[in-house]
Amino acid sequence: MSFKRFLSTASLVCTALFASANGFAIDYVQNALARENISLNGQWNRIIDPYENGYYNHRYQPHTTEGYFKNAKMKTPSDLIEYNFATAEKIRVPGDWNTQEEQLFLYEGTVWYQKDFALTKQADKRYIVHFGAVNYQAMVYINGVKVGSHEGGFTSFQFDITDYVKRGENSIVVKADNRRERNQIPTVNTDWWNYGGITRSVAILELPATYVEDYTVQLSGSDATAIVAKVALAGSNVKQGGSVKVSIPELNIQEVITLNKKGEGQITAKANPQLWTPEAPKLYDVTIAFNGELIRDRIGFRTIAVDGEDILLNGKSVFLRGISIHEESPLHDGRAWNEDDARTLLRWAKELGCNFVRLAHYPHNETMVKMADEMGLLVWSEIPVYWTVMFEDKAVYAKAEKQLTEMITHDKNRASIILWSMANETPSHKARLTFITKLAKKARSLDDTRLITAAMDTQGNTANGKIIDDPLVAAMDVIGVNSYCGWYGGTPESCGNILWESKYNKPVIVSEFGAGALQGLHGDKDERWTEEYQASVYEHNIAMLEKMTALRGVTPWILKDFRSPRRPLPDIQDFWNRKGLLSEQGIRKKAWYLLNAYYSKKEESSN
Ligand code: GCU
Repeated sequence: MSFKRFLSTASLVCTALFASANGFAIDYVQNALARENISLNGQWNRIIDPYENGYYNHRYQPHTTEGYFKNAKMKTPSDLIEYNFATAEKIRVPGDWNTQEEQLFLYEGTVWYQKDFALTKQADKRYIVHFGAVNYQAMVYINGVKVGSHEGGFTSFQFDITDYVKRGENSIVVKADNRRERNQIPTVNTDWWNYGGITRSVAILELPATYVEDYTVQLSGSDATAIVAKVALAGSNVKQGGSVKVSIPELNIQEVITLNKKGEGQITAKANPQLWTPEAPKLYDVTIAFNGELIRDRIGFRTIAVDGEDILLNGKSVFLRGISIHEESPLHDGRAWNEDDARTLLRWAKELGCNFVRLAHYPHNETMVKMADEMGLLVWSEIPVYWTVMFEDKAVYAKAEKQLTEMITHDKNRASIILWSMANETPSHKARLTFITKLAKKARSLDDTRLITAAMDTQGNTANGKIIDDPLVAAMDVIGVNSYCGWYGGTPESCGNILWESKYNKPVIVSEFGAGALQGLHGDKDERWTEEYQASVYEHNIAMLEKMTALRGVTPWILKDFRSPRRPLPDIQDFWNRKGLLSEQGIRKKAWYLLNAYYSKKEESSN
């Protein structure tokens, strides 16, 4: 390695270590797709590799020179190369592979992706490759050299590739592997489709040699008359200091942040912003200027707090009229990822009468949460600590904490997000309590401006109904309750008589109730799978909700039917979970109208 290269590598390592060590900013470029970038969305070459032949040799040792990541080309007619990206099948990015090819519908394993890209590399720039998400494991190679790997199927990640790209033609190779393993987050059993591949956007960011990596712009604590802006640098020389200009023109804020030797700084400016609400989702244009780069963002300002059993938005009691949503497109089959997908799903939620959405069971793409900011929907955002993860395993905890940190770091400037959810329907035992309590503590250390919750299904029974009884509540600000009266137990009619007790003096959100129905199947209300049965479950659960004194929100399960390997019932499910209020095409079922009427009434009573 040349001395120069050694220095640049050393500085890269220092920067990476420094960026991750300074606590203020993890190694993640905020608002990546709003920065100068070259999109790599579009057609990629792909090789299906069920035996990971492109990664391991016949002794099951990682290849050094023969791996597919080398993207080798024949140089002489006698060369032996048993793969060829240039003549391989194509695959669309972003997009899960399951819904692009029949043979990949149920595939779980490795698919290699490869794309050539041209770069007019400039000496005073840094180049960061950004992935919105790869489910579940990704290994990324630039011009045959591994630049990094990432685990976790629903959070974006980036690698500094400045020292690996060259002027002119370059090649990027990604090994994507969606195999489920017991020691992953989520673990092997989930009630959603295991969509594999590069499921969100890919881009190469072109940034100044030293740039603003992380920023936070929000109200200063509970004081709605001041705004704090924090910034942190990354890149070639964070010690260079200098000043960052933060502007919010509509609030007459033009501030210069002087940076310390760590490349960090912050200002607090008096301001009297119009506070963001679902009814009036006011966003302000914010610009952050440094070293020749102008970062543009649109940020809303609001406060969220709990007061006993109340949830206060901007100091006023709010009832969260919600619905649960999976990240599945209503317009094309498979994973949702773009603005049309997000606008359609959130418009459907608005039409239902919602001011709130539970983005289940994992962090959704950044387009979705930005659209919620724009359209005025409060958000419950969640990491996939789902069902029976390995709570005793420290390495598994580290995976959960990493995904939590990524979720919060990526979306902390989104006003719509008011709740960070740590888990869904986890079994109540000591190891789980320790695991999730530690996650909640970590979440508060990263962001003490939002509420912490989890969806729990460990209620007790009383003579007159149910009691919320879970030690995990102690670590939560808001209690999420999943309860399926009329579907997984009890008759629909029995639900209206249930009285709920809570001994915690904390707000309750019923984060799931519901029933399955095949849209268009009609019959008696006692006939399972008919729209009439589903409507009856909603009718009587709504009657139950009306009597819950601690209730401050509902997110019934679920907006639209979604794919799941757990739902094979021929001619009814066919690998679809039918608890949607809408069919997979977006056609309303009878229960939709019952929930809509309930929300209209709740909205009127809150005005
Ligand atoms: C559970 C779980 C959901 C699942 C739903 C169902 O509560 O949280 O992910 O899809 O019930 O059984 O349909």
